[in-house]
Amino acid sequence: MQRWIYTPVAVLLGAVAAAAAAIEINPLAAFLGTTALALAAGFIVHRQFHQAALPDTQGPSKPSARGENGEMPFGLGRMLVEKLPVPLLIITHKGRLSYANAAALATLPRLATGQHFAHIIRAPTFVESVSATLEDGRDRSFEFRAYEASDRHYEARVSMLALGDVFGAEARAIVMVEDRTHTYRAEQLRSDFIANASHELRTPLASIVGYIETLQNHAREDPEARERFLGIMAREAQRMQRLVDDLMSLSRIEMSEHVRPVERVSLHRIASDCALAFRPMARQENIELVVDLDPGGAEIIADPDQLAQVFANLIDNAMKYSGEGAHVRVHAAPESPAHPGRVGVSVSDTGVGIAKDKLPRLTERFYRVNVHHSRNKGGTGLGLAIVKHILNRHMGRIEVTSTPGKGSTFTVWLPRAASGERLRARPKDNSADPVARRASS
Ligand SMILES: Nc1ncnc2c1ncn2[C@@H]1O[C@H](COP(=O)(O)OP(=O)(O)OP(=O)(O)O)[C@@H](O)[C@H]1O
Ligand SMILES: [Mg+2]
Repeated sequence: MQRWIYTPVAVLLGAVAAAAAAIEINPLAAFLGTTALALAAGFIVHRQFHQAALPDTQGPSKPSARGENGEMPFGLGRMLVEKLPVPLLIITHKGRLSYANAAALATLPRLATGQHFAHIIRAPTFVESVSATLEDGRDRSFEFRAYEASDRHYEARVSMLALGDVFGAEARAIVMVEDRTHTYRAEQLRSDFIANASHELRTPLASIVGYIETLQNHAREDPEARERFLGIMAREAQRMQRLVDDLMSLSRIEMSEHVRPVERVSLHRIASDCALAFRPMARQENIELVVDLDPGGAEIIADPDQLAQVFANLIDNAMKYSGEGAHVRVHAAPESPAHPGRVGVSVSDTGVGIAKDKLPRLTERFYRVNVHHSRNKGGTGLGLAIVKHILNRHMGRIEVTSTPGKGSTFTVWLPRAASGERLRARPKDNSADPVARRASS
């Protein structure tokens, strides 16, 4: 028999007994009637309460993460949990999701009430830790990685809830999941940077130490070897000096990245002055360096010393990775709908070119397509990283197109100056002449 039938039967019996009691004024009938009515009332209340605590037994239900009835208990607690920027999940004793706050929904948009937690995040560490806490009742903190569109790093904490918590009678554990991908990547970048910088310094330093030992021992009496070794040591020392200069330059640029430049200048003039300074070097290396710009055109708001550093890096690369007999051209880029409100200058070469899959990594610190080639040419692998940071400060962009074996074009895009822009005097920059620095490599 269905359990619901007890309720009307008990009510009926109660009513009959109460009527008998009223007519006969029989104490036993009155007692029975009252008891039957009390039982019926108790049963109704129990049934209501039991149903409210049942979502778990029915498996995944509706596509919502708002708990049974679509809501959390009202009040300050609910508002706080809902507004917390940290994703929170409430898990029942059967491991099903009974509630997720707004931050959790934003982080894991496919959440649904009734889902098992192992289907929400499939990382083994997550599943093992939450299962263990549900089993032994002990709180746990853990880290895990998940592969969604990209590799992501999370920190999580799972704690047991008191029975009969505001999250409902079935709630057993609360899981807090924080996305730490940004912090993790920043830490990774920092440690990679230190490792790379140390490695770059250690190589020339080891070479210098080696030659010093040779000179102190068997090359002591050999003037010819001494001359040759001293030449190599001087080159290696210069390489270390360039690296330290570039590192300091990078850190100076990073520090000023949030300070807007203030001078009104011609982009074409800066680029052409810089290119003309490379002419003697180009002649020496039998490279045809053509400047195709209208000095005075393309007004922008900039720090001219920093922009000269940008073009020195680009022209230096164009010459370095093209070699004898190459053509390097510095010219105005035609206006492009992809860069509205911006003016551009390109540096094109007929050099080795760069494979398409390597292009996105060019502005990473210490990245070189061909490490050996770059080192031989005295490169530190920081040139384009410096370019990127300078352009960030100028709200600019760099665009690269390249065909392996044919050549490359690097285009710098910068916002055109508005007509009425008022300017202040430029703070004095004491950085070294960028062309002279490049020419010494
Ligand atoms: N015009 C170019 N043609 C071919 N490859 C290039 C060109 N410009 C840059 N590259 C590649 O990109 C890498 C990174 O360039 P970047 O200017 O940052 O460093 P670098 O030239 O090696 O050293 P540095 O500029 O510090 O002297 C280079 O090592 C090179 O492999
Ligand atoms: Mg370079």
